[in-house]
Amino acid sequence: MIAAASSSDNAPHIPVLLDEVIAALAPQPGDVIVDATFGAGGYTRALLDAGATVHAFDRDPDAIEAGSNWPETSEQPPRLVLHARRFSEMAEAMHEVGVARVDGVTMDIGVSSMQLDQAERGFAFSSDGPLDMRMSQDGESAADFLNSAEESTIADVLYQYGEERQSRRVARAIIAARPLETTGDLARVVRKALGYRAGAPKDPATRSFQAVRIHVNAELEELHQGLAASEQLLGEGGRLAVVSFHSLEDRIVKRYLRDAASAGGGSRHLPQLEQAPAIYRAVSKAVRAGSEEIDRNPRSRSAVLRHAIRTDATARKAA
Ligand SMILES: C[S@@+](CC[C@H](N)C(=O)[O-])C[C@H]1O[C@@H](n2cnc3c(N)ncnc32)[C@H](O)[C@@H]1O
Repeated sequence: MIAAASSSDNAPHIPVLLDEVIAALAPQPGDVIVDATFGAGGYTRALLDAGATVHAFDRDPDAIEAGSNWPETSEQPPRLVLHARRFSEMAEAMHEVGVARVDGVTMDIGVSSMQLDQAERGFAFSSDGPLDMRMSQDGESAADFLNSAEESTIADVLYQYGEERQSRRVARAIIAARPLETTGDLARVVRKALGYRAGAPKDPATRSFQAVRIHVNAELEELHQGLAASEQLLGEGGRLAVVSFHSLEDRIVKRYLRDAASAGGGSRHLPQLEQAPAIYRAVSKAVRAGSEEIDRNPRSRSAVLRHAIRTDATARKAA
């Protein structure tokens, strides 16, 4: 297992399901592979070591900055090309650098340990920081959203993205406590609304933090669009490997692959096509971390990998 480089010495990100992802991508020297979520570059490192050229995306400028001094960026031609962009834009970005087809795409959805562990990024409630949660470090922050949205909108976000059954109660408490400025403010309001007692096995603020983060970063939309972009970019025999961390994401990946692998398949963003040929074959079942990896890296407990191989069928038009 390869230890990933990190942007911060005290917050290393341990790549999850690394061996399984690399086995699924089966990189060969000279292959061109998109790492849609560079993070600390754990997957990218292994792909480069296998001789591939990697186009690595991350919407977080800090992650891209940390990769900019990797030696492969200055090889001629570079074997590591960094894109400080959202992966929903990967087809345009690759087009702009003159690459029409790739041999693999991998996505490791969600936040990195660096993002979670830096209080000032505002992702975690274990340490107090500004209520931010923006991976890209621009646009609407969590505080902007929670301090201005309608109560019903906040409740919908908590329910849909956090599966918070008491979403209305929490939304009402948020409105009453405005303005919220820190992650501690949000955690206190949610815990009070749900009657949390210290020492309870799961902090109820977890669900609300997940929900607000998914909303602020439009994470599920990004995933739909990233899958559609991968379909456009992968050539015949190209491999897709997607790791997700909660059921909302995994459901999207599972349904997308099921639809794309069956003739006539469609999906939420891709129109139903009569008699259309399958877009993917060899679709895997859910691959999960083994107990040894979970012991070493508890974050891997909820990770699910799904992978598949692209057929020669024409990519469907993204809606
Ligand atoms: C779980 S980490 C990836 C870790 C990486 N596989 C490694 O081994 O170091 C996820 C990364 O993806 C980035 N990310 C999440 N959603 C993104 C999106 N829609 N577009 C681009 N980057 C995204 C995050 O900023 C974060 O750095």
